[in-house]
Amino acid sequence: MSKQQVKQIRTVKHTRDILPRDFTSDTSAQSHKFQYIESVAREAFRRYGFQEIRTPIFEYTELFARGVGEETDIVSKEMYTWRDLGANNTPGAGDSLTLRPENTAPVIRSYIQHQMWQQSDLAKLFYIGPQFRRERGQKGRFRQFYQIGVEIIGKSDNPAIEAEVIEMLDWILKELKILNTTLSINSVGCPKCRPQFNEMLKKEIEPRLVNMCGDCNHRYETNILRVLDCKRDTEIVAQLPSIQDLLCEECRAHFAEFCRHLDKRKLKYQVDPKLVRGLDYYTRTAFEVLTTSDDLGSQNALLGGGRYDGLSESLGGPPSKGFGFALGLDRFVMSLPEEVSDPSIPKVFLAHLGKEAFEFSLILAGCLRKVGVSCAMDFEMRSLKNTMKLADRSKARYTIIIGEEELTKGRFVLRDMVTREQLELTEAELLEKLKAN
Ligand code: HAM
Repeated sequence: MSKQQVKQIRTVKHTRDILPRDFTSDTSAQSHKFQYIESVAREAFRRYGFQEIRTPIFEYTELFARGVGEETDIVSKEMYTWRDLGANNTPGAGDSLTLRPENTAPVIRSYIQHQMWQQSDLAKLFYIGPQFRRERGQKGRFRQFYQIGVEIIGKSDNPAIEAEVIEMLDWILKELKILNTTLSINSVGCPKCRPQFNEMLKKEIEPRLVNMCGDCNHRYETNILRVLDCKRDTEIVAQLPSIQDLLCEECRAHFAEFCRHLDKRKLKYQVDPKLVRGLDYYTRTAFEVLTTSDDLGSQNALLGGGRYDGLSESLGGPPSKGFGFALGLDRFVMSLPEEVSDPSIPKVFLAHLGKEAFEFSLILAGCLRKVGVSCAMDFEMRSLKNTMKLADRSKARYTIIIGEEELTKGRFVLRDMVTREQLELTEAELLEKLKAN
């Protein structure tokens, strides 16, 4: 077959490669930025006492149907679901499996499966990984996207837990210099007060339904609270009652206490009574951090989360309280205000001239790496000019020039590529100097 006939295979629609900076000019798809945000988040998790959990990328479909809710957009429209092979490899006769669209239900499944409550009154877990939703792709919205999240599960539902998580998020955002954000909070009530609110919403919405969009008409039947989230019928939604007015005494007190803890920490927020979130497991506190810049187009939610006190029981576990959030890593990368340093940039480039110098450089590179210095070199024989071009392109801070003369003298030129300063050093001196700074 000739070369022209071989069809190239590309990424699936609305998925993408996250690449080293050298191979993409798309600043929102550079892997060193993902690493940077992950490292800041890991540092926050260390300080706040979270431990890492890694769950499988696919689970039984039932976990999400029961955990997230059959009537949510995520479960009803967006999951990648397939039937596994059955006994004797019979196609389509096996279990229904799903690529995880979110990670709260899997973490609770794991909490229950490993009886974590036996070991600790409060499990503080974090995760970093891909999620999959078959959404319509657009700026800031992908079919494979990455989340960093935490879940706090156990005996306590103290609102101080929630404020502490918000404080940690505030630290992460400031550390990343993502400052143009607002925190919206709400309470979505509990099984005691929400049914009454839903009833009231039904009554209020019914006469207005003819003027409302198809989605609202559908949600009126299946998931009435989600009508409040409609981005089209905003004028009608603005006239609907506020859940804040109908909270039961316990939910009202919980929310007031949450606000008090935020105030005590001087954390700024807006109460948005229309904030209801798109997953069914929430009880009481719900929150989102939105960006006020237009880096993300219409996808302005940087992160979201809330309390889910009934989730463990609905998945067959013990009664447990739960609270958490997930941030959209792809959206965070798009919101970074400035260039971040790339740890893959080598510290030193070895510029060798001639065969002997090449052989020497191979060994010197090994020695440098053993003492912790990152270095790069080329495997072709080139002229000094072309070698120095490569040194420049590598962005290494230092270049060591190794030619015949240097080898005979046993002294090598170390050039600082920023200050252009040059030093002549022995091999031992080179190792000492580079190791030290
Ligand atoms: P979520 O609001 O569905 O919540 O997703 C959290 C974040 O993931 C969003 O705010 C957004 O930044 C990002 N995200 C969601 N879908 C996409 C997409 N298609 N492309 C890019 N980014 C996206 C949850 O997933 C809950 N499990 C959060 C949680 C944890 N609640 C309690 N604990």
